[in-house]
Amino acid sequence: MSEEELALLTGYIREYAGLVFTGPQEYLFHRRVKKRIDANKLQSAREYYHFIRFDPKRGEEMRELINLITVNETYFFRETPQMAMFKDELLPSLKEKNRREKTVRIWSAACSNGAEPYSIAVLIRESGLFEGGDWRVELYGTDINAEAVQAARLGLYTANAFRGVDESIREKHFSQKEPGVWELDPGIRQMVHFSLLNLYNPAQIKLMRNMDVILCRNVMIYFDAEGKKRVGEHLYGALRPLGCLVIGQSESLFKVTTLYNMTPMGNVLVYQRPAAVED
Ligand SMILES: C[S@@+](CC[C@H](N)C(=O)[O-])C[C@H]1O[C@@H](n2cnc3c(N)ncnc32)[C@H](O)[C@@H]1O
Repeated sequence: MSEEELALLTGYIREYAGLVFTGPQEYLFHRRVKKRIDANKLQSAREYYHFIRFDPKRGEEMRELINLITVNETYFFRETPQMAMFKDELLPSLKEKNRREKTVRIWSAACSNGAEPYSIAVLIRESGLFEGGDWRVELYGTDINAEAVQAARLGLYTANAFRGVDESIREKHFSQKEPGVWELDPGIRQMVHFSLLNLYNPAQIKLMRNMDVILCRNVMIYFDAEGKKRVGEHLYGALRPLGCLVIGQSESLFKVTTLYNMTPMGNVLVYQRPAAVED
């Protein structure tokens, strides 16, 4: 693949999904794209570029390519301080704040195989905060990777997914399906609604509105500053006033967007949409 072809392809992926491949990642990208060029029996990277841009079957091919080039690393209860913040601060504050409408809406915006939104579902179930009394808890999990979304719906996990989890949680909410494979309790599974969603596509993000909390963790690390700004602003539009955006602990929107207030909650900082301005 020539430098020019590689630039055409990485440029298009950046435009399509925000994902940036530079330096060592370029080689990885090259190898994965090569697989798709061969699978489609095409002669060159340029031909592949035309295929994903203009062919009537480009939608299907983009799914295949995205499944290959995204990093889906995740596990239950990742980033313990943030999970403690959910349990001790955020969920109790939502119960108080939303006591009139009795609805809570939480969105895991790059949910991979579901470990993240299911961790929140387990915390909600364990807290008992929203049981009875007509509470509606709406939990959404979305990702650009179709295989990850499919895996999330299935709710089957191997030991790797439990590396951050207290044994008692696994015993209580999962059952062993076969050696090395655990199935999440169907009652927890049905708490989360999964769908395919590209955070870089404004029309798709517009479908998500009035969220109390958005988790968008460990995904903006794959974007450049412009991509972070764009997604940070899209997510702002999906939050209700005073709603919170939770990004990964190693990530920051400092110097990226000034839309949010940085608010301490427990031991962590969240990005909060300011209150609505009364006129
Ligand atoms: C490293 S995983 C993080 C999963 C989870 N949020 C966590 O912190 O454990 C990153 C996820 O972001 C998804 N992703 C990458 N680009 C995306 C985009 N443009 N829109 C939606 N999801 C995206 C990937 O498919 C992948 O599942």
